[in-house]
Amino acid sequence: MCTDQYNFKGKSVLVTGAARGIGFAIAEGFARAGATVFANDLSADSVDAAIEKMSGTTKDVTVLPLPFDVTDEPAVIAALTEIDGKSGRLDICVSNAGTQHRETVDTLDTQTFSRVVDENLVSHFSVAKHSGAGMAARGYGRLILVTSILALHGRAGLAPYCAAKAGLVNLIRVLSAEFGGSGVTVNGLGPGFIETELTADIRRNQEVVEKVNERTPVARWGRPEDVVGPALFLASDSSSFVTGQTLYVDGGLTSVFS
Ligand SMILES: NC(=O)c1ccc[n+]([C@@H]2O[C@H](COP(=O)([O-])OP(=O)(O)OC[C@H]3O[C@@H](n4cnc5c(N)ncnc54)[C@H](O)[C@@H]3O)[C@@H](O)[C@H]2O)c1
Repeated sequence: MCTDQYNFKGKSVLVTGAARGIGFAIAEGFARAGATVFANDLSADSVDAAIEKMSGTTKDVTVLPLPFDVTDEPAVIAALTEIDGKSGRLDICVSNAGTQHRETVDTLDTQTFSRVVDENLVSHFSVAKHSGAGMAARGYGRLILVTSILALHGRAGLAPYCAAKAGLVNLIRVLSAEFGGSGVTVNGLGPGFIETELTADIRRNQEVVEKVNERTPVARWGRPEDVVGPALFLASDSSSFVTGQTLYVDGGLTSVFS
């Protein structure tokens, strides 16, 4: 393995849901590694603020705003056309945007179930399908889809999220089979408990915080930066023989019974 493989100068990367949390850290990581990053999120203001923050901490980063809603397929297609126009091609796509809805099935209606599945599975399909098509046509690409340890385990109150994330893991396998002959690898990142806005509510409960610390082999919660190295690895030439896999970035949580 050559460390130069973690230099992404000349590569163009799309990160969805990059205004905060894991997506922000991954976008910043690629920018620091020399890539031209297209930072996506729902609103132009949130993306602009994120870019300002990244530019404040690191000099000479190239991060361009690309606000759109990943559940809006025509907007996904238009954004990819914009990337082609600005950078010539998209090399790496990190489909990270996601949402959570906490409600037990006794009151959960099917419309809400479908919406959460749209946000956490169908949107990834659309982003991967359209960005992967361009990559396959050019003969090179890296698709990284952000799933969760909740693809492997159920959790009360999170039925559509758990179903969507589990579906994503098998979608990754199918995409790896379909794109594999075209120089495009497709892999998943499955974060464990990470300190972001998504987990802000449950982290207010000290019992939950301590339970996660106790059950996680590395004895702490993850931070968004913990997901950056694995993302760079899956996007690099070091992982060119790795496809269809999901790498769990969880401090060992899913490897133990405790
Ligand atoms: N934080 C965790 O513990 C954890 C654990 C496992 C998996 N994940 C996954 O990691 C990913 C990022 O999570 P996070 O913790 O950083 O969450 P977060 O809520 O902090 O950030 C998610 C970002 O995605 C954006 N987003 C949501 N819907 C969007 C849409 N339709 N179009 C464009 N952008 C949209 C949000 O505006 C937000 O900026 C998600 O897919 C999440 O399911 C997180």
